[in-house]
Amino acid sequence: MSVPKSLAIIMDGNGRWAKAQGKPRTYGHKVGAENVEKICRACDDLGIKYLTIYAFSTENWKRPETEVKTLMSLLNTYLNKCIKTCMRDNMRFKIIGDKTGLSKELQNTISRLEDVSGKNTGLTLVIAINYGSRDEMRRAFIKASERILSEGKEIRDITEEDITNALDTEGIPDPDFMIRTSGEERLSNFLMWQLSYSEFYFTDVAWPAFDEEELKKAISVYENRHRRFGGV
Ligand code: IPE
Ligand code: IPE
Ligand code: MG
Repeated sequence: MSVPKSLAIIMDGNGRWAKAQGKPRTYGHKVGAENVEKICRACDDLGIKYLTIYAFSTENWKRPETEVKTLMSLLNTYLNKCIKTCMRDNMRFKIIGDKTGLSKELQNTISRLEDVSGKNTGLTLVIAINYGSRDEMRRAFIKASERILSEGKEIRDITEEDITNALDTEGIPDPDFMIRTSGEERLSNFLMWQLSYSEFYFTDVAWPAFDEEELKKAISVYENRHRRFGGV
């Protein structure tokens, strides 16, 4: 099997990685954010077309206020930087999650970044912010229902495709492969509809230490797997 066209990563372990070095959790988030740029370049070099990363979940608001503030500020800084570099890198950006729950400042940064990078043809980086799969599906069911009723049809006429097209990931191919770093082996409310047939890979390596070599190791495991879609 060849390199995945669409890859998803749950970037986990920033806090534990920092703590192991006697540093505050926020230091781990800073190094973790820097690592995103490196992994994007590596993905592009490998021929991956879509990378979807989990940056902040709908549950992450329950973290201490100072940590949430740091994460939001790092995200805003990172996305502003991308506005400047996306044309050079030919990268397209798309943010998934409930944007209405984010600050006006972050919402503005996001819409500028999506506008300016929208026609780029290189790697598409999909960033999940204030994202939860259950919340996304709830919003998608409402959207699909409104659409079907506006077409003069009935709710029971909704197809799987209608739901797929009402999700935040509309237009993004389902991930072929999903990586979670730092030892946890769960989905934590990430892309539950879209990962139905993806291959999973778990590693003990924390996100800030997950480098190009680790990515290549993961991809080689993927290449040796036999994917099935319910057939033989
Ligand atoms: C991942 O690292 C980043 C976010 C969830 C925002 P964590 O912050 O979850 O780090 P650990 O898992 O506590 O070590
Ligand atoms: C999942 O990681 C969310 C992100 C990576 C953004 P968490 O660290 O928040 O997940 P749990 O709490 O361990 O399930
Ligand atoms: Mg974690």
